[in-house]
Amino acid sequence: MAKFLVTGGAGFIGSNIVKALLASGDTVRALDNLSTGRRQNIETFLNKIDFQQGDLTSLNDCRRAADGIDYILHHGAIPSVPRSVDDPLKTNAANITGTLNILTAAREAKVKRLIYAASSSAYGDSPAMPKVETMETRPKSPYAIQKLAGELYCQNFSQLFGLETVILRYFNVFGPRQDPGSVYSAVIPLFIKAMLADKQPTIFGDGLTSRDFTYVDNNVQANILACAAPKSAVGEVINIACGYEISLNQLAEKINASLGKNIRAQYAEERPGDVKHSLASISKAEKLLGYKPLIAFDAGLARTIEFYRNNA
Ligand SMILES: NC(=O)c1ccc[n+]([C@@H]2O[C@H](COP(=O)([O-])OP(=O)(O)OC[C@H]3O[C@@H](n4cnc5c(N)ncnc54)[C@H](O)[C@@H]3O)[C@@H](O)[C@H]2O)c1
Repeated sequence: MAKFLVTGGAGFIGSNIVKALLASGDTVRALDNLSTGRRQNIETFLNKIDFQQGDLTSLNDCRRAADGIDYILHHGAIPSVPRSVDDPLKTNAANITGTLNILTAAREAKVKRLIYAASSSAYGDSPAMPKVETMETRPKSPYAIQKLAGELYCQNFSQLFGLETVILRYFNVFGPRQDPGSVYSAVIPLFIKAMLADKQPTIFGDGLTSRDFTYVDNNVQANILACAAPKSAVGEVINIACGYEISLNQLAEKINASLGKNIRAQYAEERPGDVKHSLASISKAEKLLGYKPLIAFDAGLARTIEFYRNNA
């Protein structure tokens, strides 16, 4: 069985990946500094993994984590556009220096392949839809710039040093264990948390802002496929999403319908750095990885609501 390192393994997506790998019988190590992630996310399987509390900004911590590893699934980062607007320096260190460190450690440890969790924010506000990987990037926030820089470093390490990397550009991911407790939290956990408590969710802008919301199991699947994909996937940027868009107004309606409630959203000013619309073409993922979304939006939303209902 292969040995996996999941960076950011105590975070939302990382912990879902760790859980899936363990279920397949793989050996898993996780590196996390527990900044935006939580020990609670991995509590139930902590005794089955090698958890290293360490920092991506430390090359030594990265070296220790990469030692003896076959595949690195690099998810450690400080996510969130508004957080990066508030603190460009700290997010730059985790997101760019951290990525450079883990690539360096991966190269030294002769890791077979590194999968990078990239972000659709790299596309920015270009009006063309759906987003195809060949389109020009137009990052609008420090976070988008940082995640894009990580992509370039991955490609560069593949070209210069022969380290195999595959870049998965995620569109808004949602599902169990996504943190609902911060002002920087993503929209779906924030809406569900508010509406379960009979509070109005806040929509920034007119509610027509739309996203290609992707249930996390689809991202987990994409990582597993990317590790096994033929060499044609190496150094490639590949969108991972569902291929249809949902507006924030529709999202609030769907949560209301699922909860049997009729809570009206409150509207606030659009936030700087946010893009208006986002919709992915997933043809390249189908072609290079054999990826197809396993769980559609409505089914994913139902599972997510159930999770937050049981873990208030
Ligand atoms: N959630 C999304 O919609 C989405 C979309 C596109 C890309 N991504 C990317 O996916 C990855 C995971 O995102 P997430 O939503 O699970 O976020 P998350 O905050 O839940 O997970 C990130 C994890 O990285 C850890 N981390 C942060 N800085 C670190 C450091 N310096 N050293 C070690 N660990 C550190 C955090 O503690 C956390 O556990 C990130 O790279 C993010 O940029 C997420």
